[in-house]
Amino acid sequence: MSGLRHEDKVVVVTGAAIGNGQAIATQFAREGAHVIIADIADASETLAMIEAVHPKHQPQYIETDITKEEATRALAQTIRASHGQIDVLVNNAGVYDEEPFELLTFAEWKKVMAVNLDGLFLMTKAVLPSMKAQNFGRIINMSSNTIWLGTPYLVHYVASKMGVVGFTRALASEVAQYGITVNAITVGLTATQRPNGDDQPSGNILAHLYPSVAYRPETPEDLAELVAFLASEKSAMITGQAINVDGGVARH
Ligand SMILES: NC(=O)c1ccc[n+]([C@@H]2O[C@H](COP(=O)([O-])OP(=O)(O)OC[C@H]3O[C@@H](n4cnc5c(N)ncnc54)[C@H](O)[C@@H]3O)[C@@H](O)[C@H]2O)c1
Repeated sequence: MSGLRHEDKVVVVTGAAIGNGQAIATQFAREGAHVIIADIADASETLAMIEAVHPKHQPQYIETDITKEEATRALAQTIRASHGQIDVLVNNAGVYDEEPFELLTFAEWKKVMAVNLDGLFLMTKAVLPSMKAQNFGRIINMSSNTIWLGTPYLVHYVASKMGVVGFTRALASEVAQYGITVNAITVGLTATQRPNGDDQPSGNILAHLYPSVAYRPETPEDLAELVAFLASEKSAMITGQAINVDGGVARH
């Protein structure tokens, strides 16, 4: 295979065992990248999908809890040892549980912050030295359109995803000089195949998220296209941004 947009790029996608991350990882493989999946859950389904679209490269699954500093460091070290470079990091892993604020516990708050913000911080810390040394890097962070909508019953989640945007803006200013861009995507409600059908958003949240869908329900593939573009050389002039992909539900 040659002439593919991400030929031989080394791409790390967190939380790619299922859902949005799975579609993003598969898209990179289709475009020729070496894909590394960092997840706490078994990613064999994604590995099989990747092998089907790109038989040449062996995708790697490295079991990683992104909230643990040692684990994220070890992950980066393993990738450097096997590939010598890390070109793209997609901070996709994220958790969200619906809870009215009055019932929200400090433990639930901390769990969401740990994955959505500590994980983002630790993974970025781990890969940045490689990107700096290469004078090239692309970091793409998953935020949510709930930050524009102020969606109820997700105060902890919305606060964390606004944090993702703050992180993105400030880090972009520090690393532009090394040819590294940092962008966020504010994702709309996406039909991901979650393992438990019973953890789908309730009617309260759906009513808030679906008042004015402009086109059609969103799919993980809708995101994957944008992520692949933001990871490419051609997006060099886009950095520090939060790009909204939700079919026009929120206007940003
Ligand atoms: N699906 C949506 O409607 C939607 C909307 C807006 C934003 N998002 C964002 O998109 C991203 C992916 O969402 P999704 O719906 O595909 O989620 P999902 O729940 O389907 O998948 C999340 C993945 O992250 C992994 N993960 C969780 N904690 C982890 C940890 N500590 N270390 C490593 N991996 C961990 C899980 O094992 C899972 O594979 C998240 O950041 C989410 O906030 C999703």
